[in-house]
Amino acid sequence: MKIKYFAHSAFQITTNSGYTILIDPFLDDNPLSPVKSKDVKADFIILTHAHGDHVGDSLKIAKKYDPLFICVNELAEWIKAKGFKAHNMHIGGSHNFDFGKIKFTIAHHGSMTPDNQYAGEPAGVLITIEGKTIYHTGDTGLFYDMKLIGEMNPIDYMFLPIGDNYTMGITDAVKAVELANPKVATPIHFNTFPIIQADPQLFKKLVEAKGLKCKVMGFGEEIEV
Ligand code: NI
Ligand code: MN
Repeated sequence: MKIKYFAHSAFQITTNSGYTILIDPFLDDNPLSPVKSKDVKADFIILTHAHGDHVGDSLKIAKKYDPLFICVNELAEWIKAKGFKAHNMHIGGSHNFDFGKIKFTIAHHGSMTPDNQYAGEPAGVLITIEGKTIYHTGDTGLFYDMKLIGEMNPIDYMFLPIGDNYTMGITDAVKAVELANPKVATPIHFNTFPIIQADPQLFKKLVEAKGLKCKVMGFGEEIEV
């Protein structure tokens, strides 16, 4: 599969079987994303929670491509009320889709839609495709259960916030990598706004000092895994 990073928490996964999956596609108002919503397509959209910088351009993209949204129940109901397709899940649950397996985890954060509707609990997500597992933590503070998540679901790629203020900052994110023990950690949710400035190279240095691997993905960079 191919994984493309758009900056902030937004990713695109292209599977070998030909599916395009977007995660938290915040593009048009994302000053760091070189790609805008008109440039992407989607068969599936995974949302970690309902904040504007995660729902992003989902509805705009959905109008063109009618993807299946995958998210927690309350947010899925909001998506359906907007006229789109959603698969309702919840934290701790997993489900096999045509492209692979999705499992939602806890995240310590909030969740409210851009039009101020309650959207259930925020989540992290484990995505297993073609034998590889990605753990996108969503927006969250540090929590010790990341150790359990990593033990029970060996993680190849961990995408986690380092921008502080709303989420983990660098010190807590380094501890999160130690707990979850992924093969590779990639920092996200930084430098998009002045309040979340953080140095990804410092994060990388600190992760590597623990004997763990870090890949800082460029904005718009795509890797084949
Ligand atoms: Ni958020
Ligand atoms: Mn956020």
